[in-house]
Amino acid sequence: MSHFTYQDGVLHAESTPLPQIAAQFGTPTYVYSKAQLLGNYAAYADACAGRDALVCYAMKANSNLAILDLLAHQGAGFDIVSGGELLRVLAIGADPGKVIFSGVGKSEDEMRLALEHGILCFNVESIPELHRLNFVAGAMGKRAPVSLRVNPNVDAKTHPYIATGLKANKFGVAFDDALDTYRTAHALPHLDVVGIDCHIGSQLLDDAPLLEALDKLIDLIDTLSHEGIVLHHLDIGGGLGVDYGEVGEAAPVPVADYLGRLFARIDAWRARSHGGRPIKVIFEPGRSIVGNVGVLMTRVEYLKPGVEKNFCIVDAAMNDMMRPAMYQAWMKMAPVVQRDGNADNYDVVGPVCESGDWLARDRVLSVEAGDLLVMHTAGAYGMTMASNYNTRGRAAEILVDGDQVHVVRQRELPADLFKLESVLK
Ligand code: LLP
Repeated sequence: MSHFTYQDGVLHAESTPLPQIAAQFGTPTYVYSKAQLLGNYAAYADACAGRDALVCYAMKANSNLAILDLLAHQGAGFDIVSGGELLRVLAIGADPGKVIFSGVGKSEDEMRLALEHGILCFNVESIPELHRLNFVAGAMGKRAPVSLRVNPNVDAKTHPYIATGLKANKFGVAFDDALDTYRTAHALPHLDVVGIDCHIGSQLLDDAPLLEALDKLIDLIDTLSHEGIVLHHLDIGGGLGVDYGEVGEAAPVPVADYLGRLFARIDAWRARSHGGRPIKVIFEPGRSIVGNVGVLMTRVEYLKPGVEKNFCIVDAAMNDMMRPAMYQAWMKMAPVVQRDGNADNYDVVGPVCESGDWLARDRVLSVEAGDLLVMHTAGAYGMTMASNYNTRGRAAEILVDGDQVHVVRQRELPADLFKLESVLK
């Protein structure tokens, strides 16, 4: 169920009309629904009820403190990829003991910060990283909890830029090298080998590749336990897709179905193997938690008829939402106030000086200058990937709770953009 619905022809976030938000806070603006966020998280939490499982929300999808705080209060942990993201966890007073640290390029400073705060686990991606972490932990008189990100070499069948589990990707330890890498980790004095993880890609509409990856991880856990390396957790990563509304696109598998199938396999494996030992299951979902939580609201500046195309020029641009420019992603555009009248075919584009600055192509819209539009399903990888290109301040972020409207990030002003710069004396 979506919490963005038309009521008398006017798009609402929960019970708040979007034109009211535009009038009060301007555009472009990200608008989030609290009920949608809590509902999405509950799908994971309900499917995990009664199990030793932890949902570590991948905050790269949307790291606004208000979103993180709401999720932390529901019991979520976090998957982070930088020291900066850890500082966000600390800023909201959430438990670093529920944080896992992913990424191929962790610096010594980032490792130190994470060790100081006692995170749950480092998802290590290479042998040099194991040695660096061992060194940093040793110098601090600590032992670092470690999981190896294994690359199961399954085809996630998604956009090449967001598939991560194939041999050709920079991520993870190759499946064939995993055993040796575990032996290396196990022998290092300042590491505690506690888990295994993988993440095969993003926007997966089918869970078959995820379950295939799970089977490979399970085999490896068995092999390792025969060598006396006993793992306590299995982290299957994130990756479940959302419905962007493109005609002809398959619907994503529901969270409950995927988790049901995954736990059934884990239960069957534990009954026949792993000595019946318990294993904690960790998930790292990003998009499936926040994708449909947000829309990007924008105002039409001009309608510009072209020789081959009509352009609908809006005040949001590629710097606000990179996905179309970067991945040719199809994002649904819709009017905020439905109107009758002549519809035309438009490319919806922003003011940035790049031909690649487009938000939607070939859309039939009944629209006039001054109208409001929304880009749907913009809650994931929208604001977190925004930039200041063309000295454009980043959009405001608003969180709606029923008829209550909260500014969770103020619009950036031009002066904010150059306050760290200086001219030569
Ligand atoms: N865990 C790891 C290690 C990841 O690299 C990612 C995403 C996730 C979890 C969360 O994946 P999700 O559940 O959101 O699929 N900017 C791209 C997506 C990049 C995904 C990067 N990794 C986009 O806008 O489609």
